Amino acid sequence: MIKDLQLEIERLKRENDACVLAHSYMSEDVCEVADFVGDSYALAVKAKSAPQSHVIMCGVRFMAETVKMLSPQKKVTLAHPLAGCPMAEQMDRDVIAEVKKMYPGYAVVAYINTTASLKTIADYCVTSSSAVKICRAIPEKDILFIPDINLGTFVKDRIPEKNFKLLSGGCPTHARIEERDVLLAKKLHPQALVLVHPECRPEVVSHADYVGSTSGIMEYAASSPAEEFIIGTENSIVQHLKFAHPAKRFYELSKDIVCHNMKLTTLPDVYACLTGTGGEEIVLGEDVIRQAVRCIERMIALGG
Ligand code: 13P
Ligand code: SF4
Repeated sequence: MIKDLQLEIERLKRENDACVLAHSYMSEDVCEVADFVGDSYALAVKAKSAPQSHVIMCGVRFMAETVKMLSPQKKVTLAHPLAGCPMAEQMDRDVIAEVKKMYPGYAVVAYINTTASLKTIADYCVTSSSAVKICRAIPEKDILFIPDINLGTFVKDRIPEKNFKLLSGGCPTHARIEERDVLLAKKLHPQALVLVHPECRPEVVSHADYVGSTSGIMEYAASSPAEEFIIGTENSIVQHLKFAHPAKRFYELSKDIVCHNMKLTTLPDVYACLTGTGGEEIVLGEDVIRQAVRCIERMIALGG
């Protein structure tokens, strides 16, 4: 039974000095065995302070790489070896190094959804919850924002005093949401507030009452006096919200908002990591860690 497996995982965590970090897109049973559940920013910060010597990351590869960069002395395991983020794989380090030459003086601001290799040439890292704050705080006025054009547009619109160059990458999961989906959802649920992730297209964001990270959306829904919400991010967030707030009503913006990479990780994968029969240990070269961690450390310093 699931409960037995969860109890065995808890026992193995203690026995192996391991902790489990889970992104909020994980399923409820995985979140229940996690020592911490959060958005990308919170996971990065938490990774630094976790006292255990082994961290199991239930999320996608760039999240496990971030943990490794921030805690190189720890063993870091990605719970499912195939769980990658398609957006993170879209831009190649050498190509961006060439683009960088075309924009001398621009600060390269990389979304955390990028590979460790690409982060080695980034000046600053941002997450969906820290992007506006960091881009506003950095001294540079000219910013080359990679790879997400939708998050980049969201940030650019809020900081008109700075000059942004955007490239056309993005999240295939959030890109599936179209403006007509929001218009239909609003028609079906006229009382509901629309809460969306900034990885959504600008025309979707333009109809939102709140735009924020996965944790931001959950916190907003928890504290809002409203009773109905249309959720524009991965549909697992709708499940978590229904579970946490049974008196409120939550609606999926579209049935299609499923990140199949995030969905790969299951409870048996967590168990397999703890018994040494599954997962993939993250190994990064010392040079990559030294160069790539700088942009993440800057984000954490500026993000407070
Ligand atoms: P958050 O930073 O909101 O957790 O987003 C991560 C992600 O991959 C969203 O698609
Ligand atoms: Fe990557 Fe999008 Fe999946 Fe997030 S939802 S992990 S950005 S593909």
